Amino acid sequence: MDEAAARSKLFDLADDGPAAALGVGVRLGLFAALAGGSMSAAELARGLGADSGALEVLADALVAVGLLEKDAPLYANAEVTAACLVPGAAYLGDRVVTGRPRGAEARLLRAVREGPRPVPSAAVPLPRALSRALYRDAQVLGPRLAQSLDLARSRHLLDVGGGLGGYAAAFCEAYPELRATVVDLPSVVREGRRLAGPRLEFVEGDFLRDPLPRGCDVVLASDILHGQRPSDAARLVCVLHDALEPGGLLVLRDVLMERERTAPRWGALFSLTLLAGPGSRCYAEDEVRGWLAEAGFVDVREAVVDTEGWDPNRVLLATKG
Ligand SMILES: C[S@@+](CC[C@H](N)C(=O)[O-])C[C@H]1O[C@@H](n2cnc3c(N)ncnc32)[C@H](O)[C@@H]1O
Repeated sequence: MDEAAARSKLFDLADDGPAAALGVGVRLGLFAALAGGSMSAAELARGLGADSGALEVLADALVAVGLLEKDAPLYANAEVTAACLVPGAAYLGDRVVTGRPRGAEARLLRAVREGPRPVPSAAVPLPRALSRALYRDAQVLGPRLAQSLDLARSRHLLDVGGGLGGYAAAFCEAYPELRATVVDLPSVVREGRRLAGPRLEFVEGDFLRDPLPRGCDVVLASDILHGQRPSDAARLVCVLHDALEPGGLLVLRDVLMERERTAPRWGALFSLTLLAGPGSRCYAEDEVRGWLAEAGFVDVREAVVDTEGWDPNRVLLATKG
C-alpha cells in the first residue's frame, strides 16, 4: 500500500465523527422528527431545541455518511434511518446509542444543543504534537506547492498562521530571491525560531487582532480559514487583502467543500470536530470565492498541485486588484 492510501485509511479509522453524528442524531430525536417528511435545518432546530447553524453542520455530516438525504435546504431520512431509526417495531435507536454520551459525542451534543462556545478572549494555539505533525507534512507538501506556483518575481512572503515555518522554508528554498515572514501565536513562534534558517523571520501576533507586517507581495494562508467562525473567516480574507501590495498574490490552501457542504465526506466530518472545538467549520468553495470577491481580490483560480494523493486540501490563488 502506498503512503497516501495508508494515511487515508488511518485517518478514516481514527475518525469518531460518524458514530458521534449517529449518536447525537438519535439522542436529539432528529430521525424521528423527519419521519413525517423533509425539513430544513432551521425547522429541525426549532422543533428539537437546537442551534440552527450547528444543526445544519450535523445534518450535512449525516448526509455525508449516508444517514440523511439533502435537497437543499431540506433534509430527509435515508433508507437506512427511515427503516430503523424512526419509532416503530424495527426501531434500533436504543441499541445503537446506550448510556450517557461520552467523548466526541458528548462534545457534539452540547455544541448542537447550545451552539458554539463563547469566543475565547485570546486565540488558542494548536497542541504542540499537532504543530509538529503539520510541520512534517509541510516538509513534504511545501516543495510541491512552491513548484506549482510562479514566484520568480516575488520578494517577500507573509505566511499567516504559518506554524513552525515548514511552508515558508520550502518557498524560500524554491525561490532564492524570496524572504519570508511567519506570523503565529507566541508559543508556536518560539519553537519555529528554533527550527528556522536565517531567511525566515518570525513575528508573534494574532492575525485578527494585531497589525500584520506590510510590504508583502505573496501571502500564504494554509490550513487557516476553517479554524475561523464564518464572520471571522470573511474578515480574515479582508485582512489578507490589506496585507498585500497591489498586484500581490494570495495563496489559500484549505478544505473546499462542494456547494451543499456534504462532500467531500472527510470535510463534512471534520466540520463536526471544528463545531465542537473552535466553533468553526469547513467552508464551501462558493463561500470562499464570495469572500475573496468582496475583499477586492480578482482573477481567482485554482492551483494544480501534484501531491500524489497525499493532500486532500485544495489551493486557490487570487490577485489583489
Ligand atoms: C492548522 S495550523 C496550520 C499551520 C500551517 N499554516 C500549515 O499549513 O501547516 C493553524 C496555525 O494558525 C495559528 N493560529 C491560529 N489562530 C491564530 C491567530 N488568531 N493568530 C495567529 N496565528 C493563529 C495556529 O497557532 C497554527 O499554527
